Amino acid sequence: MSAQLTWLGHGTWLLATIDHKILLDPFLDESPTAPVKADEVEADTILVSHGHFDHVADLVSIAKRTGATVVANFEICQWVAGQGIDNTQPMNLGGSVALPWGEVTMTLAHHSSSLPDGSYGGTASGFLLKLPASTLYFACDTALFNDMERIGGAGLDLAVLPIGDLFTMGPRDAVEATKLLGPKRVAPAHFNTWPPIEQDAAAWAEQVRSETSAEPILLEPGESVAV
Ligand code: NI
Ligand code: MN
Repeated sequence: MSAQLTWLGHGTWLLATIDHKILLDPFLDESPTAPVKADEVEADTILVSHGHFDHVADLVSIAKRTGATVVANFEICQWVAGQGIDNTQPMNLGGSVALPWGEVTMTLAHHSSSLPDGSYGGTASGFLLKLPASTLYFACDTALFNDMERIGGAGLDLAVLPIGDLFTMGPRDAVEATKLLGPKRVAPAHFNTWPPIEQDAAAWAEQVRSETSAEPILLEPGESVAV
């Protein structure tokens, strides 16, 4: 049972299993690099790591159109409920929930989380996803932290890490994060969306190859990898 993971640019990912489509941090219509528009995406689950506009910009419109379950911290679930989205799964750091396609754990992230209208967005998070055939970790927006070593204890088939720097960890720390996590494969995200977070992903991949045992996976927006 293989699943397909597609990078939709920036911090947005679409995970397609045989029966389900899981969308992470929908930022499409205003993203300079997104290969699709918000009204072209199907989803039955939407994972939201934190409240910043570049992670929730298309959340409400896609949730309304698709009826997808919004999985996010309690505060973001309340925020979408206030906009007519009743199908939510609130959770918080350290918690896990079994969904029809796999188990979701909300993991630590060192980042902030205000919502676009200034509402309190709770605490930023990452996600650990246990699918029937693979375990995936999305660090989402975060600084490097040593407890990544514990997250890696789950045995990661793929880790997705930000490398853009400035608002998240940069390439150097993402190599260190790879060492702590020990995933089989690692993919970069949250870079090259705008000039302030431009990075040389190929150079980063070389560092990953020479300093870790992980295989770097470089995708262009719109490209997929089997997971
Ligand atoms: Ni952010
Ligand atoms: Mn961000």
